[in-house]
Amino acid sequence: MKALVTGIANEHSIAYGCAKAFRELGADLAITYATEKTKAWVEPIAQELDAHMLLPLDVADANQLNAVFAEIGQRWGRLDIVLHSIAWAPKDDLQGGLLHCSSEGFAQAMDISCHSFVHMAALAAPLMDKGGTLLTMSYHGASKVVPNYSVMGPVKAALEACARYLAHELGPQGIRLASSVAAADWTGVNQKALVENRGPRSRRESELAMEHCQPAAALPSCESVPGIHRIRESPRRCERPAPSVR
Ligand SMILES: NC(=O)c1ccc[n+]([C@@H]2O[C@H](COP(=O)([O-])OP(=O)(O)OC[C@H]3O[C@@H](n4cnc5c(N)ncnc54)[C@H](O)[C@@H]3O)[C@@H](O)[C@H]2O)c1
Repeated sequence: MKALVTGIANEHSIAYGCAKAFRELGADLAITYATEKTKAWVEPIAQELDAHMLLPLDVADANQLNAVFAEIGQRWGRLDIVLHSIAWAPKDDLQGGLLHCSSEGFAQAMDISCHSFVHMAALAAPLMDKGGTLLTMSYHGASKVVPNYSVMGPVKAALEACARYLAHELGPQGIRLASSVAAADWTGVNQKALVENRGPRSRRESELAMEHCQPAAALPSCESVPGIHRIRESPRRCERPAPSVR
């Protein structure tokens, strides 16, 4: 099994947990890092997981994306799994709420957090001629209003729609798509981030909103990713996948 894992920034990244799970299943890994700064954190992880490849990938740069898949094509000649675990939006556009999000910020958030997945699918498909799995990470804010999630709500909704349409287009080739919703943590790190970023809302107001919006209150991890469970429970399905839409 050959797996490309994008979106590891450090050992707290969801992508790190996923990469570990793939490795436990015996997958060979290609791992990417977004910047030279993050490389310092990702390199030891790549060593720990015996990754075959550690490659630079800023998805805003189409040449880098093409180069990653060209390298995989040359070294492995095929791919079974691609994990897209990437999200980004300009800070000012996130903090101003959706109403005040700039056109440029909206486009950047959509390009990096959503279209990059479509681009990856297009590059991965020729390497998955015997089928494969494309995974991406969504969030509850795609379907419900989560305070301060702002522009990322519409972006994640678009990402989920992309996964459905890609499943339709790539299903006949035996490529499965999964957009997984990792549960956000309301008791730890993410709570802090949300509370700090809450603007004029009171903490209790945010808590009440989150109580009604959140599907769970556990650290997002590999265990909270449904697509991973399916792969874990039935590794052989990776070899002969059936198309699915989540
Ligand atoms: N943490 C949560 O509570 C949570 C919940 C649900 C979904 N998610 C989603 O899971 C995914 C991973 O998030 P995480 O919590 O592991 O955070 P993280 O910060 O560890 O991962 C985000 C990754 O995106 C990468 N990235 C940003 N811009 C990039 C670019 N231009 N090119 C390439 N890579 C770029 C970063 O380097 C980082 O590795 C994201 O899509 C996020 O929206 C997170």
